[in-house]
Amino acid sequence: MHRPELSRRDLLAQTGAVLSGIAFASAAGLASASARGAANAPASAAGTLRLGGDLVVNRLGFGAMRICGDGIWGDPADPVEARAVLRRAVELGVNFIDTADAYGPYVSENLIAEVLAPYPKGLLIATKGGLVRPVREKWDRDGRPAHLREACEASLRRLKVERIDLYQMHAPDPKVPYADSIGELAKLQKEGKIRHIGVSNVDEAQFAEARSLVQVVSVQNRYNVADRSSDPVLAVCEQAGIAFIPWSPLSQNPRESGSGSRQALEALAAKRGISVPQAALAWLLARSPVMLPIPGTSKRAHLEENVAAGAIRFTPEEMRAIG
Ligand SMILES: NC(=O)c1ccc[n+]([C@@H]2O[C@H](COP(=O)([O-])OP(=O)(O)OC[C@H]3O[C@@H](n4cnc5c(N)ncnc54)[C@H](OP(=O)(O)O)[C@@H]3O)[C@@H](O)[C@H]2O)c1
Repeated sequence: MHRPELSRRDLLAQTGAVLSGIAFASAAGLASASARGAANAPASAAGTLRLGGDLVVNRLGFGAMRICGDGIWGDPADPVEARAVLRRAVELGVNFIDTADAYGPYVSENLIAEVLAPYPKGLLIATKGGLVRPVREKWDRDGRPAHLREACEASLRRLKVERIDLYQMHAPDPKVPYADSIGELAKLQKEGKIRHIGVSNVDEAQFAEARSLVQVVSVQNRYNVADRSSDPVLAVCEQAGIAFIPWSPLSQNPRESGSGSRQALEALAAKRGISVPQAALAWLLARSPVMLPIPGTSKRAHLEENVAAGAIRFTPEEMRAIG
């Protein structure tokens, strides 16, 4: 198995995680993972959740948006490393990979298929449609049924699958009734092209509307220790047993650095000897049993650090201190 060079900081972060008493779950394979150290802790240490009643995934996934070029446009700066990140994610037990046709555009989906297809049993590739990229700076919404059908069929071809396990409507399009967009996904599902339907970037009303039309198995909204604006949507997910997939889970945006909770998280990370991204992920996992974080990275060292966070447990007092 490939063992990448880790920076001193990564090693310190991971060793620190072990020393500060991370708890390993008793899932199969963890004994050997523990022997290899936290750098190789499998994603199963985060526990599992059931998507749509039939697909069980480890609660630490991978967001494949960052394996594209700068501005999520074109090929990655280091294609060899990007491919290695995908392979390493699967080696570490990640079995939920999130992508979208808009990433690149098409670059992320193409790389995933090139590196991982035919997919190992149990690996779920979730993709999205409903955004288009006419130029690097633009992420235009297109929720027209005809576009969604074309986008879904193109993703099926790029990903080299006959059915997409989880197809997410990337964002509601204000120019198109949401019911029309979701209705088209229902048709694609009936035709066998989609197994499960997810929504993304929705408020409570949009979420409720989608749920009145189809079985929604996941919501993907921006959420992290410093941005909890989707708490009401998360509450509905918890009640209904729907997966909540927080994007921007690491709270890396400098605008969030002033948040009190983010500062408390940084202090706790320092105290526990773990990295701030690891603390951000451990907080999310403890925040709700329906949480399925998908941290994104273009680097194996960051991937390993992030996956190791699946084994970190915060105590109730530590969670209260973060607020
Ligand atoms: N539904 C939506 O509208 C939507 C929007 C945005 C994202 N997403 C999804 O959510 C996923 C995650 O979102 P995101 O990528 O915006 O946010 P994120 O995972 O919170 O942060 C990713 C950023 O953090 C860096 N990073 C990752 N791990 C790190 C570590 N251990 N130490 C230091 N830096 C680290 C990455 O750079 P390096 O490459 O240098 O590691 C990257 O710049 C995406 O991949 C995508 O699948 C969905």
